[in-house]
Amino acid sequence: MSSDNLHIVNHPLVQHKLTLLREKDRSTSGFRDLVNEIGMLLGYEVTRDLPLETVEIETPLTPMKARRIAGKKLTFAPILRAGIGFLDGMLALVPSARIAHIGLYRDPQSLEAVEYYFKAPQDMSDRTVIMMDPMLATGNSACAAASLLKARGAKDIRFVCLLAAPEGIAHFREVHGAIPIWTAAVDDYLNDHGYIVPGLGDAGDRMFGTK
Ligand code: URA
Repeated sequence: MSSDNLHIVNHPLVQHKLTLLREKDRSTSGFRDLVNEIGMLLGYEVTRDLPLETVEIETPLTPMKARRIAGKKLTFAPILRAGIGFLDGMLALVPSARIAHIGLYRDPQSLEAVEYYFKAPQDMSDRTVIMMDPMLATGNSACAAASLLKARGAKDIRFVCLLAAPEGIAHFREVHGAIPIWTAAVDDYLNDHGYIVPGLGDAGDRMFGTK
């Protein structure tokens, strides 16, 4: 389902895996595997309209004109730390992608995003950048990350998450309305601690076994 730059990926495999992921007794390794698998499926969707070019190749039988992805290598931009969970799945699809690491943590009191690391390819202006973070909650981290990428010159930015809160979508749209979002689901609301409800808990802690 797509509207206003918001793409909800209703593919049965994505929805099935998301349900498994939400279950509170899922093991750390099971959680990690599922995020990885969903990352790959979302990666397939977010790259659906990449431009192609025609090149001359030779098969074992004959020369032919064939299509390949045009332009510079993609950049994957995981927001640390939970965004890392998507990376292996996406890299399985596009092994040659460049990687921009965006280090942001959420101040537990203000819920504001605080930058602690940013390392990205120099030439971002003509690369498609796929920014990734499992949870679009307040939208503070996604907004800060997109601003950092834009400041580095990125123009074609797409944002992929697992779950989004309506509040996070509204905030992100207000600040970066032209950046499309791909998500597996839009949940009900954010609670007072900034967690998505019903959600899946703290994605980073569940992925890395830190709680
Ligand atoms: N970050 C998480 O990991 N989970 C939420 O529900 C919100 C933000």
